[in-house]
Amino acid sequence: MALVGCGSGVPSASVSNEDLSRRVDTSDGWIRSRTGIGARRVSGPGEPLTALATQAAAAALAHAGWRAEDLDLILLATSSPDDLFGTAPLVQGQLGAVNAVAFDLTAACSGFLFALITAGQYIAAGSVRRALVIGADQLSRWVDWDDRGTCVLFGDGAGAVAVEACAPEATGLLGFRMRSDGSRNACLTLAQTDEQQPLLDGLTSQRGGFAAIQMNGQEVYKFAVREVPAILAELLESTGTAPAELDWLLLHQANQRILDAVAERFAVPRERVLSNLAAYGNTSAATIPLMLDEAVRDGRVQPGQLLGSSGFGAGLSWGAALLRWSGPGAATSPEA
Ligand code: ACO
Repeated sequence: MALVGCGSGVPSASVSNEDLSRRVDTSDGWIRSRTGIGARRVSGPGEPLTALATQAAAAALAHAGWRAEDLDLILLATSSPDDLFGTAPLVQGQLGAVNAVAFDLTAACSGFLFALITAGQYIAAGSVRRALVIGADQLSRWVDWDDRGTCVLFGDGAGAVAVEACAPEATGLLGFRMRSDGSRNACLTLAQTDEQQPLLDGLTSQRGGFAAIQMNGQEVYKFAVREVPAILAELLESTGTAPAELDWLLLHQANQRILDAVAERFAVPRERVLSNLAAYGNTSAATIPLMLDEAVRDGRVQPGQLLGSSGFGAGLSWGAALLRWSGPGAATSPEA
């Protein structure tokens, strides 16, 4: 599969660290030095996830030069759907992608990478020719804005990548690894509330609803700086790729110190590590495509370049993929 288009969508309202310090006991200095985050975007009541995801998807379609009717598959990675039954069909409807099947995939901050790999499998199997992979989250709905340990980290956004079948030698997915470890789930949760409702005599049912994000930040930090270099090292070894061959590290944007630790492990210079944490914070499933879109549009990422990518987060889940950006108009032909 070739990566041939990208797009993004973010809410207009930006909340700075100074703004947050008027609500919780924090400071710009603390947040920047511990995380690298300077601001985050926050959706208002009239800005559902569907709108952000559709904006990103439409931009990726336009970038690739495709019509919505050309799509066979839309995968939406999200942990904050507008509708628990699925938000991807809403995006499909708004795009007018009448020939596509659309469904959600949930794997927190690993979601986009897992969805991209999943799309790659459909394409490799020959059952899909053109797909849109979207990562979109609005964790602003699910943070406790009075918990300074979590509310400073997250922001809202969406990014999308258009992928299509191509000749094997032109593939943009050169290798991947995926992992999860549910025994460490409690480190980071957005869990059901334990609220019950009487139904009939002797019968009580659970009422739906979710509690705010709970996180053991230090455990998540240790997990990320241990597992991300390990899985990337495995991927590089299995694909016979030297770290020096990577044009870019495209990692999930959770914390600048995590990005720095991974870069140091592979001796990748700082200027080849993509980061937009300062403007957006952690947008969960959206970080990787949002970052890619920015770097493609400002000319940093060029057609033919290699990107070492890793997503990691709640689940716990983590993964890595070796990607090659093709860009719009790349000569492609159906996979064998
Ligand atoms: N402002 C000021 N002080 C704060 C804040 C804040 N926003 N938050 C915590 N503190 C205080 C703590 O209360 C603590 O004070 P104490 O020493 O008096 O008890 C002190 O700062 C140090 O707290 P730590 O938790 O040890 O701070 P740490 O250096 O570990 O940084 C952080 C915390 C930024 C959360 C870090 O652990 C981290 O980034 N972890 C990874 C989190 C992450 O990436 N999560 C998302 C994963 S992706 C997904 O799937 C959603």
